[in-house]
Amino acid sequence: EKDGHDWFMRKEIFEQPHAVADSLLGRRTRTGELQLDEMRLSDQELRDIDKIIIIAAGTSFYAGMVAKYAIEHWCRIPVEVELSSEFRYRDPILDYSTLVVAISQSGETADTLQAIRHARLQRSKVLAICNTNGSTIPRESDAVIYTHAGPEIGVASTKGFVTQLVACYLLALYLAQVKGTRFGDEIADVVHQLEAIPGHMSTVLDRAEEVYELARDHVGERTVLFLGRHAGYPIALEGALKLKELAYIHAEGFAGGELKHGPIALIDEGMPVLCVVPPKGRDQLHGKMLSAIQEVRARGARTICLAEEGDRSAAAVADTVIELPKVPVLLQPLLAVVPLQLFACELATAMGHDVDQPRNLAKSVTVE
Ligand code: M6R
Repeated sequence: EKDGHDWFMRKEIFEQPHAVADSLLGRRTRTGELQLDEMRLSDQELRDIDKIIIIAAGTSFYAGMVAKYAIEHWCRIPVEVELSSEFRYRDPILDYSTLVVAISQSGETADTLQAIRHARLQRSKVLAICNTNGSTIPRESDAVIYTHAGPEIGVASTKGFVTQLVACYLLALYLAQVKGTRFGDEIADVVHQLEAIPGHMSTVLDRAEEVYELARDHVGERTVLFLGRHAGYPIALEGALKLKELAYIHAEGFAGGELKHGPIALIDEGMPVLCVVPPKGRDQLHGKMLSAIQEVRARGARTICLAEEGDRSAAAVADTVIELPKVPVLLQPLLAVVPLQLFACELATAMGHDVDQPRNLAKSVTVE
């Protein structure tokens, strides 16, 4: 049942190329337009939306953070991302022109369910991004985008997460299509780039052994830090969460630019820092990230950089490089998260922990 793997989690990590491909199936009409079957909101209702609030917990929350970058860039609609457990208690400003997007792998997370009930009482439309057919959250929502990851057994979300990202990209592109934004021409290109992701993910997975070796070198570590910028920032947070959940190691993710505002004081001789380096582009993101990496390195950190293939300037500031195939910055999370999942899975295994059922955690959290 684990296809020869020691853990469901590891099996699910390796299923990701397939899960992404399945989540993209049937989303295009013959004329190349995007279609989302269970959207159930009319084009006019979607055009009337002037604000999106994404609510989710844990790993799904990080998918929501990535979605913010994508939706704001492609659709020019303001997006807030909020932990579902906090949402109701701040008396959020909602009305019929607000779209609330609830992201939940299980569809049963109590915090998220209560949050969507609150939103619907305020007349907002709710769209669920969910992996579990017929679960409570999609049943109580106005519209659904189902992810097609298949059942996720490991408590740590992996293929659930990457398929949530795919659903978020599709939603962003669909909204751009309906609204006819100036990024309309880009839609077909991005869909093609998404369709190439399963192949790129397989390339990353083919190099799993390198990540495993690195992970085994970190048994006994007390603190591991993660750095990212832009869409790589939520991936830094996700990498840290995986390590906490599975290896019970203190881990934290930071935005590269935030380091100098405090966290850099944590850096100690030999402290591992995993850095998600944005692809080289015309903007300053890449350079800014490299200077943050230089800063931690100058203070003794051991830097492990996830960087685009052939990125020599990243290699120059890295003690170890994990190469990622070349993709646009907004899609890089789909690839960058994979080595971080492998790292946490292998490190926890080497420490003798139960990876599929970490202590104190349940697969779906049905109490508030
Ligand atoms: O089923 P959900 O997506 O609503 O679950 C949300 C979180 O409980 C979940 O992502 C949790 O953080 C995972 N253990 C992360 O690996």
